[in-house]
Amino acid sequence: MKSKIATQIVGLELANPTILAAGILGYTGLSMKRVIEAGAGAVVTKSMGLEPRTGYQNPTVVQTDCGLLNAMGLPNPGINHFKEEMVELKKLKVPTIFSIYGFSAEEFAKVAVAAVEMGADALELNVSCPHVKKAGAQIGSDPKLLTEIIKKVKNQVKKPIIVKLTPNVTDITEIAKATEKAGADAITAINTVKGMAIDHETGKPILANKLGGLSGPAIKPIAIRCVYDVFSSVNIPVIGCGGITCWQDAIEFIQAGASAIQIGTAVAFKGLNVFSSVANGIETYIKTKHFKNIKDFVGLAHNI
Ligand SMILES: Cc1cc2nc3c(=O)[nH]c(=O)nc-3n(C[C@H](O)[C@H](O)[C@H](O)COP(=O)(O)O)c2cc1C
Repeated sequence: MKSKIATQIVGLELANPTILAAGILGYTGLSMKRVIEAGAGAVVTKSMGLEPRTGYQNPTVVQTDCGLLNAMGLPNPGINHFKEEMVELKKLKVPTIFSIYGFSAEEFAKVAVAAVEMGADALELNVSCPHVKKAGAQIGSDPKLLTEIIKKVKNQVKKPIIVKLTPNVTDITEIAKATEKAGADAITAINTVKGMAIDHETGKPILANKLGGLSGPAIKPIAIRCVYDVFSSVNIPVIGCGGITCWQDAIEFIQAGASAIQIGTAVAFKGLNVFSSVANGIETYIKTKHFKNIKDFVGLAHNI
């Protein structure tokens, strides 16, 4: 008999709805293997581009009262150096979602093809990084450019395309509708929220890049609102992300409309056990409420 906590999204079979968010322990095959062994239902890699990037100088991360502020600058070895990381990972038979970025539709398509060749089960297009110019959020705020990129990638690869949206726009539903119309298979909401920290003694911005992206519990209500709005404006599945630290948070995201959830910053604060504790909590909730599986309460908050 299938477990109540197992679920499917964009054709991927997940043992449970928890997924490692992009950029946290997704740099190597070994680190993602640890995340899978700790109980994640799927993993998303660090965002990979065509060429290697060193990222920004330190400081790249600042701890705030209720989260992290980061401006890493998308450091990564370049997609072609990631092949060997996939070898061990693929043996575990847990879906691997490749997060990719580019500076043009052509670049996105090239990275997508390389990722699929090396075994990606799905792609997550990072069009939402708040701190790298001409990539990330600049694309994710422009429905025309976003459409061009999704269509180009879709045309080149046969794997599911998930698009990760930024909350740093006036109307996320406008972007979500364009994403669906362009042919995306699912939406991840959300990437980090634009933020900044200043050293009050010196008056200097703390991050070397000055501007960064806020993650962790501080952004949970923003993320819930985005998932709720996106769910009500499109018919493709939504993956919730932003500030999830416990199973109750995950339930809230599912009730807002998420069909699966991603965990990032909580891994840094709570360790790898966060995946099994969130998954076990969701399973107990399903049993207590006499649901069949999570699909029974995806979007429940919209019925009220
Ligand atoms: C240090 C750090 C690095 C990140 N790198 C990426 C990245 O490479 N690509 C991406 O799409 N999101 C990246 N993110 C954003 C996370 O995937 C996630 O969307 C965000 O942190 C909100 O979720 P959380 O509150 O659970 O961390 C990064 C976040 C952090 C904290």
